Amino acid sequence: MIRIDSYFPMRKWEQMRAFLSECYRPDHAICSKKFFEWQFQVDSNNGNARLMCAWNDDRLLGILGYLPLLVNWGEIAKPYESAWLLYWMVRKEALRGLGLLLIRKIHEMYPLLLTVNASPMGQPILTSLGYTFFKSVPRYISVFDKQQCSNMLLDESMGNDLDAYVFKSARSESLNISETKLNERNYRPDWHFYNALSFGTIRSLEYLTWRYIDHPGFKYHVVIEGDPERPAVCVYRIEKAFGDYEAMVGRIVDSYFPCDVEGRKRGMDLVFTVLQHLKSIGCAFADLFCSNEIYGQLFIDLGGGMEPTDRQIFPVRLTPIQRVIRYQNFGFFAPKGLPLPDLKNLYVTKSDIDGDSPVSRLLIGR
Ligand SMILES: CC(C)(COP(=O)(O)OP(=O)(O)OC[C@H]1O[C@@H](n2cnc3c(N)ncnc32)[C@H](O)[C@@H]1OP(=O)(O)O)[C@@H](O)C(=O)NCCC(=O)NCCS
Repeated sequence: MIRIDSYFPMRKWEQMRAFLSECYRPDHAICSKKFFEWQFQVDSNNGNARLMCAWNDDRLLGILGYLPLLVNWGEIAKPYESAWLLYWMVRKEALRGLGLLLIRKIHEMYPLLLTVNASPMGQPILTSLGYTFFKSVPRYISVFDKQQCSNMLLDESMGNDLDAYVFKSARSESLNISETKLNERNYRPDWHFYNALSFGTIRSLEYLTWRYIDHPGFKYHVVIEGDPERPAVCVYRIEKAFGDYEAMVGRIVDSYFPCDVEGRKRGMDLVFTVLQHLKSIGCAFADLFCSNEIYGQLFIDLGGGMEPTDRQIFPVRLTPIQRVIRYQNFGFFAPKGLPLPDLKNLYVTKSDIDGDSPVSRLLIGR
């Protein structure tokens, strides 16, 4: 008899670990208990993980993770309850349509659903249910060291293209930024200043703390500049690429600022300072996946550029370097009555949900 539960109790971890290691791979990051508990917000959910689970007696047959998060959806100060979907998987032995059943259950709980990196199997099913998909969230790159970069190209012929992406380090105004511990005194944005964030997850203090500060695997650097009500924000981490070449790469995963002249100037100074720092410590390049045109344009104004949508310059997976094309897709289901945004008006980055994840549980432990 199949039973569907809307959460997963951690006391059954051994069944979950076995399911994940069989259906994904034994060294997948999600097989680390520590990472799993963080990803599915066990601490803030009475010891239960936010996963819809299909059981046959005590055998786990399928899962669908969901993260309830407040988003803006068309109007800036009107938070909307949504769930981001992740880790949708059923065992091969399961009845046909079990995955679909899990999705239907989640639709009974949340009207607005969002996801990134849907698989070639999942995407057509979701599309048939009314989801809208954007094939690739734009990726902006900023080249610091052409010599190192030429060893990291997806295809050697792209070496000539690098000139178009070189960081303009001649700009004079760099800030004296330091990482401050985020708290209510220094970070309480008034979202009315941030029109470009009118479609996307609300980057509240609580969200940033969970997503970056408490992350069990990555060391993120969160830098803010400006008044607590209207800060410019840039979050990045430094990745040590390895495999057939070794280099450091700056991965910028969030970058936003108030959408007025003063806010843009602060954003520009902040991102410039971060890029200059990444260059000075020897990074080969930096990248930013960001759907929003306004925030992407800033990268372009600083000398970088948007990778062409039909071919990539640099690999996306760097630990180890995988020379394959990999786009980040984004999909959503909005009920009737809610607006359908263009990609350029959304604010979706690589860090949304599980877009920026460690490749192996060995990097996390436990
Ligand atoms: C994606 C997954 C969870 C779906 O599980 P499932 O519901 O058991 O999948 P099914 O193949 O039985 O398809 C269910 C229904 O979806 C619809 N569907 C399936 N493939 C479809 C396609 N290519 N286009 C449109 N509809 C499709 C059909 O209605 C189908 O039911 P039917 O075959 O009885 O008509 C499962 O295939 C899986 O675990 N895949 C591996 C992991 C993965 O890719 N996860 C998705 C991440 S986004």
